[in-house]
Amino acid sequence: MKKVYIETYGCQMNVNDTEVVFAILAGHGYARTEDITEADVIMANTCSVRDNAEQRIWGRIDQFNIQRKARQGVIVGILGCMAERLKEALLESGKVDVVAGPDAYRSLPALLEAAAPGKPQIDVLLSREETYGDIAPVRTDSNGVSAFISIMRGCNNVCSYCVVPFTRGAERSRDYHSIVREACDCFEKGYKEVTLLGQNVDSYSYEDVNFAGLLAMVAQVSPELRVRFSTSNPQDISDEVIYTMSCYDNICRHIHLPVQSGSNRILEKMRRRYTREWYMDRVRKIRSVMPDCGLTTDVIAGFCSETEEDHQQTLSLFEKVGFDTAFMFYYSERPGTLAARKYPDDVPLDVKTKRLNEIIELQGRMSLKSYRADIGKTFRVLVEGPSKKSASELCGRASNNKMCVWPDSVHKAGDYVDVVVTDCTSATLICKLK
Ligand code: SAH
Ligand code: SF4
Ligand code: F3S
Repeated sequence: MKKVYIETYGCQMNVNDTEVVFAILAGHGYARTEDITEADVIMANTCSVRDNAEQRIWGRIDQFNIQRKARQGVIVGILGCMAERLKEALLESGKVDVVAGPDAYRSLPALLEAAAPGKPQIDVLLSREETYGDIAPVRTDSNGVSAFISIMRGCNNVCSYCVVPFTRGAERSRDYHSIVREACDCFEKGYKEVTLLGQNVDSYSYEDVNFAGLLAMVAQVSPELRVRFSTSNPQDISDEVIYTMSCYDNICRHIHLPVQSGSNRILEKMRRRYTREWYMDRVRKIRSVMPDCGLTTDVIAGFCSETEEDHQQTLSLFEKVGFDTAFMFYYSERPGTLAARKYPDDVPLDVKTKRLNEIIELQGRMSLKSYRADIGKTFRVLVEGPSKKSASELCGRASNNKMCVWPDSVHKAGDYVDVVVTDCTSATLICKLK
């Protein structure tokens, strides 16, 4: 058997795609290895969302080439979004033998077979139908508790800064029968949590089933199976989805709702199809139906033409909402996107960094406030395993997605445990068994 090693970068969809790739390759006589020095095939499943994500991967390709030179016959492959975006340019570097885009993984066995020195192979065709719905992913997470299930691929939005529609192609939803089957299968194998993945889950649509309908179906697999999902788009998250969440205890009380900016002028240039007021209204709705719902977000500082006033709007929105956590970035121009073609990337790097740091600093305070507000509360957590810091402590998430740690020598990964919050940091709830 040939051994294949894959490093995964980027979002959760990429993590799940790597699991699909392992499944496809397993059917063609490849075994997974986590040791790069014994691998016959070395691959990276890549991300293009920001320039530094790509730079990191170029660095890894150089590392892979040390193995490729040292051991004859080793094949280096690039999968995922960077494969799709850069195409032949990757082959022209002379450092890569196989390039396969996100919709081309079924052809990987043939590409690997055909690749030879001086004969690199490429398939970056995007598809309107491919969902890998019939493939049972080889789970790569170590705890055996939580599994990703992709419910759709691609994206039909045209956020002006974003490369994803170019790298992942048109949006398509996966047959709900195969999604529910996969969730059942996970539960039978001992998994206690599934996360439904899509770039814009609220636009899920297959035959007569929308996202709210799908959520309800997956929630009914078992009350012991937790359901999470990501990512919701503020313009599309419906009341029906919010009410459906509130109807099922096992649908976790957490919504990741990327806001990107607090300024209407910038949101319009970003081609996000909502306003600050609409966003605040969605937050109010979520909190009125589920007062205990966790809320997290993504934000971009220093988008084209952003003024100090626009930036202040973002800060004030962060202050008003009080997110539990946020993924915070400064704008990185992506070639080919609408913003790159239409707007100059005119906020100087030092200003972008300064604004980003102000958002990070504010969010740090808001996180602490949000975590402190949970002190004294009791949460049911799903044990993920030993905590990072101590072998005598376990860790797991509360329904609202906050990480809890507590001393425990009794329970194990996959158990549900009731804990009381006694203290916190801005990223962890410190608890004791109830
Ligand atoms: N589909 C998700 C986002 C996927 S990309 C959504 O619509 O919310 C993940 C995050 O990366 C985005 O939410 C955005 O905050 C960030 N991002 C995307 N393109 C970027 C760029 N060009 N520069 C900086 N951050 C970017
Ligand atoms: Fe990118 Fe917008 Fe699609 Fe998210 S919704 S993947 S930000 S284009
Ligand atoms: Fe990156 Fe592609 Fe995901 S660009 S964020 S790996 S969809």
